[in-house]
Amino acid sequence: MIGKATVVAPANIAFIKYWGTRDWNQTLPFNPSVSMTLRECVTRTTVEIVDRTEGDAVFLRTKEGSLAPATEAFTRRVEPHLERLRGWAGEEISFRVATENSFPMGAGMASSASGFAALTLAVVTALGRQVSSEEASVLARLSGSGSASRSVLGGYVKWPAGEGPEEEHATQLAPAEHWDLRDVVAVLQEQAKEVSSREGHERAPSSPYFEPRQKLLPRRLEIVTQAILERDFSALAQTVEEEAIDLHLIAMSSHPPIFYWRPGTLEVLAAIRRLRQEGVEVCATMDAGANVHMICTPESETAVADEVGAIPEVSSLIHDGVGQGPRIVDEHLG
Ligand code: PMV
Repeated sequence: MIGKATVVAPANIAFIKYWGTRDWNQTLPFNPSVSMTLRECVTRTTVEIVDRTEGDAVFLRTKEGSLAPATEAFTRRVEPHLERLRGWAGEEISFRVATENSFPMGAGMASSASGFAALTLAVVTALGRQVSSEEASVLARLSGSGSASRSVLGGYVKWPAGEGPEEEHATQLAPAEHWDLRDVVAVLQEQAKEVSSREGHERAPSSPYFEPRQKLLPRRLEIVTQAILERDFSALAQTVEEEAIDLHLIAMSSHPPIFYWRPGTLEVLAAIRRLRQEGVEVCATMDAGANVHMICTPESETAVADEVGAIPEVSSLIHDGVGQGPRIVDEHLG
């Protein structure tokens, strides 16, 4: 047993969205999803194996750089996953966890995906175990954050939704080197959203638009997969935007409804439409939050940042792009 390990795992941005969970025990979705793994929006997590009698302890790195005990709500989210990983390890041990994020947490920017991918891989590494990417994907998914199943891989990633072992883990569609796409994130809201993704997944089937979207998905999946393989930006752009709008349409028409957008979200969407009319290769997507991910080609990145960065509601821009996936590092937190 190594005893202590640190993993940096990235967030990802979905092109085809996971929205609606059909099995909470296994965290299995109603539909397949496809995402791009990011490189700058990351979670760094250190796990130390300690004596069982010590009990689990979770710390967050503060803005000032020190470690502080995590809030009760945060610990409540992490603890069941630690319990599950302890069961998987089959050892009477406790975990000392320290974690930090390079980007706002809980604001619809996939911090749970990077967080649970980093935690899962740090536990596995601290235990001195080796797992395949398939097993890592399943373990990360069981955290309850389905999108974490995609964050254990780099590049362009698909998480199927079918039955059976081949369908339960994410797989890479193409490595990061295949297509240098960028993601400029327009940050409109830094604080955590009011309604969690979990709540959104639970309410999704209550929307009258849930079923119609399911019928559209096989074709969308085909288009997005093909667009990635052929590096066809315009085919990708149209479907990615339709998907993002549909997620929010379903959220807004769920019972009770969920409104993640802010007025600034619409401003950014309008700016993107303007840019596209001028020939700039860019499209927008949003996860369960107000912030807008602007997917673009490297040649378009400056034009996108200049135009959208000037919108008063946009508090900052994060420049990100397709990344390689998680890595083990030597620099421990605490
Ligand atoms: O993995 P969760 O439970 O945080 O849900 C993620 C949901 C979306 O980010 C909105 C879509 C997705 O596929 O990532």
